Amino acid sequence: FYGTVIHSASLKEIAILENALLVIDSSGSIASLEAGVEREKVTERLGALNAAECRFTELGKGQFIMPGFVDTHNHAPQWLHRGQGQGLQILEWLNQVAFLNESLFKDPNHARRVYPMVVKGMLRSGVTTASYYGSLHGEATKILADVCLEMGQRALVGKCNMARNAADFYVDASVEESLQVTRDCINHIKALDPKGELLRHVLTPRFAICCDESLLGGLGEIAKEYPEMPIQTHFDESEQEKNFTMTLFPQFTNEADLYETFGLLNERSILAHCTIMTPYETQRLQDLNCGIAHCPTSNMTVGGGFMAAHIKDFLNRGMKVGLGTDSGGGYSISMLNAMRHSLINSFARDFLDKRDGSDTVTLEEAFHMATIGGAHVVGFGNEVGDFQIGKQFDAILVDITSSRNGVNAPLEEVDSLRTVLEKFIMTGDDRNIAQVYVRGRLVHGC
Ligand code: GUN
Ligand code: FE
Repeated sequence: FYGTVIHSASLKEIAILENALLVIDSSGSIASLEAGVEREKVTERLGALNAAECRFTELGKGQFIMPGFVDTHNHAPQWLHRGQGQGLQILEWLNQVAFLNESLFKDPNHARRVYPMVVKGMLRSGVTTASYYGSLHGEATKILADVCLEMGQRALVGKCNMARNAADFYVDASVEESLQVTRDCINHIKALDPKGELLRHVLTPRFAICCDESLLGGLGEIAKEYPEMPIQTHFDESEQEKNFTMTLFPQFTNEADLYETFGLLNERSILAHCTIMTPYETQRLQDLNCGIAHCPTSNMTVGGGFMAAHIKDFLNRGMKVGLGTDSGGGYSISMLNAMRHSLINSFARDFLDKRDGSDTVTLEEAFHMATIGGAHVVGFGNEVGDFQIGKQFDAILVDITSSRNGVNAPLEEVDSLRTVLEKFIMTGDDRNIAQVYVRGRLVHGC
């Protein structure tokens, strides 16, 4: 690729490389990245290569390459009903909306029909890596894993553990069965991708409300057996959820101690929400290097955490923070939407705290969370998330020229490269995502 290349250099800096030459090798890894290369030099370099072996793309004004988005929290079986029941508290939303719809995945044919739509929709939205909650069903979860691999999306996939406090038509038959199905899914995913290069199993206790001590303990044992395996759950989402959790586990005073006791809180943990946290819990998560999946959309629409998340504080502390769409409590699968909502959420938090607006989430931080920050949260930070040499090429080709954008934030001659990026983030959508690559493979666009 020759043209503009943009990636996150740090929480404070977006590197915007002009006239950059980005070379991807045949294994899908980044071989070199050089900024400020003259056009004649590119011609020379191309001349030295066998044209048949090399695909060359030259980007024009209004086009750039950036890392693919990482959605750190997504419920694949909530695809069809996402956005329904907005305004409900979390336990009502689960009972009235989510469980009914997720239970349909008992039928593998339903999974075979819906999951390709999920992965296709996510890829066209530029999500190159997703951390998926499956339903509780083993067959459907294996189908989701198959589909991710076939369609080329980098993914964590987990069978959802939920053996109590769900619905009588949608609950694991027993703790033993829940653990057995989990092991079966682990084996299936390991057989598909033994080294976990693109596809990994993620332990997925839905949340402590749905898991008793023996289930949490059993999953903690599996976490010990597989010291690389990521773990995801919902953490401190809302008052309603926290209060119920504490009545179920009276021996604990907070969720951090609860999950830690069962071996589920460590540097592999991907904790969704983290809205109403005590200072003790924040410190514990920081000390244990846990990852935070910030889901600003669902925090504001279902759930009940609303504006409570202190994301700027987590970022200032240097904690690992990524963004999650939380589709379908979150109504949108767009990571652009999640970025925008992370800004709005932070501005509101700042106002409610009666501060002066000088320390809110910035565009640089939102971009970081949506790409490399999220990659670190889900355990792929050494492989993807930015364009360091040797990393794998998971990227999107953005195009905000008028042919794609219509009347939406039209590209102007005077626009700086920074403005082009800002227009994409604040007003773009999947029409502006012309191509999507995972490990060098074109998985969307042409
Ligand atoms: N807590 C437990 N399950 C869920 C879910 O599906 N969505 C959200 N937002 N919170 C949860
Ligand atoms: Fe969720």
